[in-house]
Amino acid sequence: MHRISLEGRGDFDEWRDAARAFLSADIAPQNVEWHLRGEDAGLFGFSEEDPLPVSTTTKKLSVPAAFMELAQTIVCHSDPARFALLYRLLWRLQQDKALLQFKADADVAEARKLEKSVRRDSHKMTAFVRFKEVGLQPEQAGRRRFIAWFEPDHFIVERKAAFFQRRFTDMDWMILTPKGSARWDGETLETSRLPAQQPDLSDETDELWRTYYANIFNPARLKIKAMTTEMPKKYWKNLPEADLIPELVLNAERRVLEMGAKAATEPQLFHHRIQAAAESRPAPALPDADTLAGLKHEAQACTMCPLHCKATQTVFGEGPEGAAAMIVGEQPGDFEDLAGRPFVGPAGKVFDQVVGETGIARKDLYVTNAVKHFKYEARGKKRIHQRPDAGEVERCRWWLTREIELVQPKLIVAMGATAVFSLTGLKEKVSDLRGKPMPMDGGRTLFVTVHPSYLLRIPEERRKAEEFDRFRADMQAVRRLMDGTGTASAMS
Ligand code: URA
Repeated sequence: MHRISLEGRGDFDEWRDAARAFLSADIAPQNVEWHLRGEDAGLFGFSEEDPLPVSTTTKKLSVPAAFMELAQTIVCHSDPARFALLYRLLWRLQQDKALLQFKADADVAEARKLEKSVRRDSHKMTAFVRFKEVGLQPEQAGRRRFIAWFEPDHFIVERKAAFFQRRFTDMDWMILTPKGSARWDGETLETSRLPAQQPDLSDETDELWRTYYANIFNPARLKIKAMTTEMPKKYWKNLPEADLIPELVLNAERRVLEMGAKAATEPQLFHHRIQAAAESRPAPALPDADTLAGLKHEAQACTMCPLHCKATQTVFGEGPEGAAAMIVGEQPGDFEDLAGRPFVGPAGKVFDQVVGETGIARKDLYVTNAVKHFKYEARGKKRIHQRPDAGEVERCRWWLTREIELVQPKLIVAMGATAVFSLTGLKEKVSDLRGKPMPMDGGRTLFVTVHPSYLLRIPEERRKAEEFDRFRADMQAVRRLMDGTGTASAMS
């Protein structure tokens, strides 16, 4: 029996080095025991300094990229059995390259379970880290310093540190956890795997969090079950806003009625980022962008163009993965910006009505926009829609492209010129492309129609009714294409 002990604090390299040594010495998984360093080695009758085996083979080891990605995630899990599981998979992959595709295989299923748990923990970290201000940096006038305490289930600090660096680039911060810590000083991002002590951190920043939470809490979207799943009680003790929740829930109904009466148009207060820096920033590497939920989550922190500075929030697409059709609008409007969902305002109502008449269920569509932040000009209390410019559309195209890759729709419906430009790079008039299904990359079909807000802007009743009929006819064509009874012509 071969025995190995590892630190096991999220360091992929230490597992990989050991696994590579065992594999090249042709040692089968059942002959390796994986231990955590600091366990009583004497109890198991071996020394922690046992040397790694020497290679007995010259054969080339083969490791699919998908396994490497999976292993890098699973190594962060806190289950001590993860190392043996990974080595078993690695061993079996040498014989069976397609192993990871067999979801019913017990090892693969267990690996996916661990992977999901790490991803979920990472997601919770980005949502529930709460920074507290700890005074100005003495050497660098003006730089504010913040500390946060968080209790992750797994060793995810290193994995998520870059996310916080991107998101809070203009302040100095430190995140301390019992499973390691991260520190950013505006120039260097440092991480440590050592457990940190919980600092005493109660200050006036708590009040800021409470104000922020009370402002973003949307009583119209209150779903208590979903809320407690999303924000499990174990995180509450470190969330300054948590004690507001019972009262906000209690008052939700009254606030919904008030909101309806007020038809809120005021933007939420939002932090102002350094616009110039955002402008020049390239598309970031996003560790969670490989699922729709992860992508949506990453998009919440998007600063790729200055539109995020004034918008309340990123309004991401919604609908099922694998939806037959993706609908692409221009950008969220005033209502969408406040609600955080696409096409829920006046244009959305028109869209829902016509789509419903056509017999398509909106829940079967993936509905999104070319640009994910609301662009507007404030005039008094009103926020007047402004069309996004070509640069803004181009920066946001990254998200749309990724949505298409993950949803894999057969049909994409571009509503309006901005969507057409985002999807094709063409600046053609919508009227020249409208109603003709066109082939796109990936065997998809593109169908162009007008934007529903265009219908709302037509002042003259008879023309408006005619244009509604044309839009209805377009949506019927969309339904036929979804059913497979329409065809795509060559794009000229
Ligand atoms: N207009 C759009 O293009 N998208 C929305 O989500 C709402 C209005």
